[in-house]
Amino acid sequence: MGRFGNVDKYETHEHDVLVIGAGGAGLRAAIAASAAGLSVGLVCKSLLGKAHTVMAEGGIAAALGNVDPADSWETHFADTMRGGQFLNNWRMVKIFAQEAPQRVLELELWGAAFDRTPQGKILQRPFGAHSYRRLCHVGDRTGLELLRTLQDQGIHQGMDVYMEVTLTRLLKDGDRVVGAFGYRRENGRFILFKAKAIVVATGGWGKVYKVTSNSWESTGDGLAAAYEAGAELIDMEMVQIHPTGMVWPPGVRGILVTEAVRGEGGRLLNSQGERFMERYDPKKMELSSRDVVARAIFREVEAGRGTPHGGAWLDVTHLPADRIRKKLPSMYDQFLQLADIDITKEKMEVAPTVHYAMGGIRVEPETGASTVPGLFAAGEVAAGLHGANRLGGNSLSDLLVFGKRAGESAAAYAKTVDHPGSIDESQIDEEVSILLRPFESKGTENPYLIHEELQETMQNWVGIRRTAEELEKALDKILELQQRAQNIHVEGSRLYNPAWHTARDDLFMLTVCEAIVRSAIYRKESRGAHWRADFPDKDDAVFGKVNIVTRKERGEMVISTIPIEPMPEDLAALCQGVTTALWVTADSQEGH
Ligand code: FUM
Repeated sequence: MGRFGNVDKYETHEHDVLVIGAGGAGLRAAIAASAAGLSVGLVCKSLLGKAHTVMAEGGIAAALGNVDPADSWETHFADTMRGGQFLNNWRMVKIFAQEAPQRVLELELWGAAFDRTPQGKILQRPFGAHSYRRLCHVGDRTGLELLRTLQDQGIHQGMDVYMEVTLTRLLKDGDRVVGAFGYRRENGRFILFKAKAIVVATGGWGKVYKVTSNSWESTGDGLAAAYEAGAELIDMEMVQIHPTGMVWPPGVRGILVTEAVRGEGGRLLNSQGERFMERYDPKKMELSSRDVVARAIFREVEAGRGTPHGGAWLDVTHLPADRIRKKLPSMYDQFLQLADIDITKEKMEVAPTVHYAMGGIRVEPETGASTVPGLFAAGEVAAGLHGANRLGGNSLSDLLVFGKRAGESAAAYAKTVDHPGSIDESQIDEEVSILLRPFESKGTENPYLIHEELQETMQNWVGIRRTAEELEKALDKILELQQRAQNIHVEGSRLYNPAWHTARDDLFMLTVCEAIVRSAIYRKESRGAHWRADFPDKDDAVFGKVNIVTRKERGEMVISTIPIEPMPEDLAALCQGVTTALWVTADSQEGH
């Protein structure tokens, strides 16, 4: 008998497949699992339709060749591998580049209203480090349109949607995942799901940083729960810092300024009016890869050539005003409403903002299966596709291609196993104790202050430029915060209580940060988004051959490596031509 003594203290639901997270990947997985004729539960932490997917504004990358007929899946493959500095899982990248066009056309069939070429085809725009104009888009609201379309398609499939639910623990029967437990955010009521298979699609964890494009939901719950359940994580050190977020006024710092601004011809200028990308990547200029552009802005600011609030200018005033309003309507509104700036007449002030996690749950490329039976992952929470740096626009096609595959694979797995019988209540008791501890604790720690200290730590010591000394300081601080988080005290009841929610989120975020920092300490080289000032060069012989793995062993976080499977010759040949990382070239031009 568990702590509750009977099951009335929490509601229980049973599905063949449970999908946790209702952004693009979760929705696409749920659609696929329902299409297999199974009962599907879809859980969202927020309201359906609100997800970080909307922050992929500028487009979805797929080699349709509508604007540049020379484009092909092979070029998309090569661009993605080079962008990821060859840490990517090439099997995953191949599937991705080959299937992205089908997934985009399917989305169009389901009603997505893409911008059009004069011939009526889906219009494609340029984006950083893509060799061709490849991003299918809906103005600068592509992620929003993708979500709307999937939502429309999904709700007609008969899946059950649970909104405003946070799941905090995956439940196991032996090695296998058989359910999940958490609470309803509105009233704090506990909720149990039994499932034959679970797809985690909870996105990233940008809220561990102070300056981020992510909103409050991105606290790494799904990743941390998967890790606790035994799943392996890879590439956790690889955190994408998008070059352009808003800077001013302070309340909007970090909000995304889409790469589409540069795709449409926007120019980056320093305080002296120089188009400084000449110094860092004279060929691709503003459309270099994100890691290169973010570092370039960082260096300009450091050299004293930054804007008044520590960033760069982003200028579209040379473009026709009606074109700006048509192609970048959200940016036009965003700057007008939030900063009182008319971008058709004035420059935008921008600076790097944490945007995306390349690292995450290690999955099988073909199925999205994690290393734990019954547990699948897709979208940002899964890793392998993007390597050391994701190309803009690749996240939306990622979540369609691998959301579908994970949903189908979870359904296929669910058909081979029985429903879990009773679930070992001790797991639920333990989670309930963790959840209730802040009310029962005599401690004095404040959940918001713990979060704030963590954000300061990550922002200051685990940012664009890293060193062993700062990473070690960050790790010490994280371990200290983990101790202090045991003494969090929260007043009031479980009825909508954001402080209580934050108390549990703090534990997830501290786990995520420990994994990021331990992996960053381990990777003693600079590659993609991971810039170690104390190891400024790439080390292809050692670190170019491995992914860094994080797993839990006997209660401890353990870091190790797995070898990267060598690419077959035909695929390796596709990637030849650019062997020097663009940003390393940029660094060497600065005498780094
Ligand atoms: O800048 C952007 O529109 C973001 C796109 C992405 O992250 O893929």
